Parts: sequence; structure tokens; C-alpha cells
Amino acid sequence: MQLVNTTVLGTGVLGSQILFQTAYYGLPATGYDITEEAISATESRLDTLVENYAEFFGDRAKAQAARESITLTTDLAEAVKEADLVIESVPESLAIKEQTYQKLAAVARPETIFATNSSTLLPSDIAPFTGRPEQFLALHYANNIWKNNTGEVMGTEQTSKEAFEAVVDFAERTGLVAIRVLKEQPGYVLNSMLVPFLESASHLLVNGIADAATIDTTWKIGTGAPFGPFEIYDVVGLNTAYHIASNGDETSKKFAALLKSEYIENGKLGRATGEGFYKYND
Ligand SMILES: NC(=O)c1ccc[n+]([C@@H]2O[C@H](COP(=O)([O-])OP(=O)(O)OC[C@H]3O[C@@H](n4cnc5c(N)ncnc54)[C@H](O)[C@@H]3O)[C@@H](O)[C@H]2O)c1
Repeated sequence: MQLVNTTVLGTGVLGSQILFQTAYYGLPATGYDITEEAISATESRLDTLVENYAEFFGDRAKAQAARESITLTTDLAEAVKEADLVIESVPESLAIKEQTYQKLAAVARPETIFATNSSTLLPSDIAPFTGRPEQFLALHYANNIWKNNTGEVMGTEQTSKEAFEAVVDFAERTGLVAIRVLKEQPGYVLNSMLVPFLESASHLLVNGIADAATIDTTWKIGTGAPFGPFEIYDVVGLNTAYHIASNGDETSKKFAALLKSEYIENGKLGRATGEGFYKYND
């Protein structure tokens, strides 16, 4: 089973990148979003992605051709009528996912495979709404897909082996390193390691054990890693870090308070704003 025609539902930050990555690797890619305003925002994001791909791969003509090959629509039935694979990247809310899959299940062909890009909801939370749990699983991308090109493939107990393998094959044909997640796991592989790692670093900081630069230096010299935890916080963004820490234990809540008062309230949100734990010139 080779998946070719691909439709992305929800063409926001990640959905636009998924569309672009798929088109860049030569597959027909269609994007669906709910309003004309959302589609128009997607058009601008796709234009920016031309620059990102041209710079990263050094082939502007190919990036431009990928951009021009992408179709966008607000008509769901039209968007999925020829899809072999539908990748859902709508907001991280179970209610929105439920509505989306119920509408999708009513119009998609019976053989179409559905994959969710959800970060925190498990595929088994969503499977009951799909009407085809054996053809449903997660394909989880990382932000900045062109360079952070992992594709974590994770099924439920009901996902068929054929659907799992077809999505692994799709991931590999679209420039991803397919990560086979063999059992359902909140956080997949990467975030299962990254979240506790970043949390340990934040606890060292708020407990006054060492400052951020010292913690980063220790990690980098000790392991040979290119980035320390606070440099990673700056990439993730301090708003996201704040939301995660706010839901943690007492020490994490102290870290959330520190992020808010020292950084977020002063517009220091990490690399995206030029300053977080560190200052950036680019
Ligand atoms: N942002 C990230 O770094 C990242 C990384 C990996 C996975 N994800 C996951 O990707 C999904 C989308 O995240 P995002 O950051 O791209 O969000 P986003 O808010 O940028 O995009 C969501 C898009 O979905 C559209 N939408 C809203 N309701 C819809 C509906 N009913 N049907 C179709 N489209 C609808 C919105 O108009 C918007 O364009 C989430 O599940 C998130 O967990 C995000």
C-alpha cells in the first residue's frame, strides 16, 4: 500500500509545514482549513516556507514548484475525495478533534488512512471518533520539519500493521526519519526524554543549586551535547515552558513564576524574540 495523495486538515503552524514538506518531496498535497481568513494566513506561511526550504536545501526553483503545487480549500469533501492519507493538525482540543473526525469520517473514502499530529492527546483518545480505528494512528512531526525531520509513528492497539507500515513508508518518502513508537506513550519518544530533562534543569535553577549558564556548560562539557537545557528552553519558547511548568509540582510552579516575572512580562520569550535566558543577534 503506497500512500500518494495527501490531505492536511488544519493548515496552521504545523499543518502548513506538513503540506510543504509533502509537496517538496513530490507528492500531491491539499490543505483544508475552516475559513477563508485561515486559508489566507496559510498562503503567507507557505510563502515564508519557500524561503526556509530554499535557504536550507539551496534549491529555490524546487521550493517554488512545491509551493505552486499545493491546493488549499475550505471544502472538506473536495479536500479528501482522492486522499490516500489524511493528516490532521487541528488545534490540540479533544472537542475540536472529535468534531473534525466525525465530519471527516462521513466524507472520506473507506480505504483512506487517517493520521493525527497531536502532541499530547493519545491516538486512543481520538480513535473512537474516526469510524476506522484500524486505519488510524499518530504521525507526529517536530516544528521546523525541514531540519527537525523526525516523524514519530505511533498506533493504538487497534491500528493495523499495514496502516502502520504504510505511514512509516510515507514518512520516509517525504524526507522524514521515521521513528517507530512500538507502544502508545504520552510524549512519544522525544518528549518522554526532553520534558523530564528540562524539568530537572529548572529545579536545579529554582533551588539555587547553580545558575542557568553553569547548568548548560556542565551538560555540554559532560555529554558533548551542542545545547544545554536553558538554550533548549529558548528554542521551545518561554510561553510554552511556562504553561508546562504551571501544571507541575511546587518547584515547577516556582519556575513558572520566575519565567513570568523575569522573562515573559519583559517580552523575553526565547529565540523568537531575540532574548530569553540568552541574547541572540540573529
Ligand atoms: N506547534 C508545534 O510546535 C507542534 C508540533 C507538533 C505537533 N503539533 C500539533 O499540531 C496540531 C496543530 O498545532 P498548530 O501549532 O499547528 O496549531 P495552529 O493553531 O497554528 O493551527 C491549527 C489550524 O487548525 C485550524 N482549525 C481550527 N479548527 C479546525 C477544524 N475544525 N477543522 C480544520 N481546521 C481547523 C485553524 O484555523 C488553524 O489554521 C496540534 O494537535 C498540536 O499539538 C504542534
